[in-house]
Amino acid sequence: MSGYKIALIKGDGIGPEIIDEAVKVLDAVASCEGFELKYQEVLMGGCAYDITGDPLPQETIDVSLNADAVLFGAIGGQKWDTLPREKRPESGLLRFRKELGVFANLRPAVVYDELVNASSLKPEIVKGVDLMVVRELIGGIYFGEPKGREGNERAYNTMVYTREEIVRIAHKAFQIAMERDKRVCSVDKANVLDVSQLWRDTVEEIAKEYPEVTLSHMYVDNAAMQLIRDPKQFDVILTGNIFGDILSDEASMLSGSIGLLPSASVGNKIGVYEPIHGSAPDIAGQGIANPIATIASASMMLRFALGETKAADRIDAAIKQALAEGYRTKDLAQFDAKEICSTSEMGSIIANYAAKCKH
Ligand code: IPM
Ligand code: MG
Repeated sequence: MSGYKIALIKGDGIGPEIIDEAVKVLDAVASCEGFELKYQEVLMGGCAYDITGDPLPQETIDVSLNADAVLFGAIGGQKWDTLPREKRPESGLLRFRKELGVFANLRPAVVYDELVNASSLKPEIVKGVDLMVVRELIGGIYFGEPKGREGNERAYNTMVYTREEIVRIAHKAFQIAMERDKRVCSVDKANVLDVSQLWRDTVEEIAKEYPEVTLSHMYVDNAAMQLIRDPKQFDVILTGNIFGDILSDEASMLSGSIGLLPSASVGNKIGVYEPIHGSAPDIAGQGIANPIATIASASMMLRFALGETKAADRIDAAIKQALAEGYRTKDLAQFDAKEICSTSEMGSIIANYAAKCKH
């Protein structure tokens, strides 16, 4: 029986609740498909700071690099917002991404037919949306030097991209497009920023290696507008770190709840699978968080990191079935709900369906 090592990072806020449900579902499909998952829990974020004084203890990096994949919940919360920046949970996460070299953040935004009424946009605008944001994750203004703050008078960050960084993320986007509808829209601000002009020139150059893929370019302000006006025009959106952060939150709303969307952060080594939402401290511990984004992230982990396609298919089908049967967590309670369920009830329902699905 094949066995896999999974580094488990629950994190802060709702992180522990949603990871527990993903583990429930993973264990259900693993036993159906005859493989074993061994979890090793490590700390990151505010909880890590509280215990060790560091939001990213070295052990977390070591265990993760030694695993087959990392499943991650969420980090952060008001409690830690006044710490010096390098002690904050978010700094731990950024350092973690950098240490693991996960330069590509893949954020699919898919609208489930069962939830076309849940979006704040009209059903006919969102029905059938199936796009993928490919966000560069370990460069750009998040990491650029110089950066700093001079008292209360001046502060600065720098948006930097090297050709090499753009080349590798562009390849990733084109490769993904080849498996999809073969369209890449690269989003930048080349009308203003030099770094974006380099981005655009480099993407153009890499596009020549993928003649079957249609490349277009869009300024980020226009892209933000187009995503709401006509989201179905997009297949793969290729963009930098901060634009991707913003546009992927925007894209998530097409689906009706940010609690639905998974992501994969991949590079050359080990990948990190995590929901795109945050730690939602305001609802933590109440059993009302939607675990679907994390369960769907676990499915991406099975598919992309472990090659356990059948198990991943089981999970994806089970999520659809739970939604089709009208099970809803509180975030989606107003939308065609037949039964409102708690975080852990939703996890159990999906685990049961996943174990029954025939593949
Ligand atoms: C995300 C988050 C993070 C980011 C924060 C928590 C540092 O918003 O994963 O989208 O900005 O990348
Ligand atoms: Mg974000």
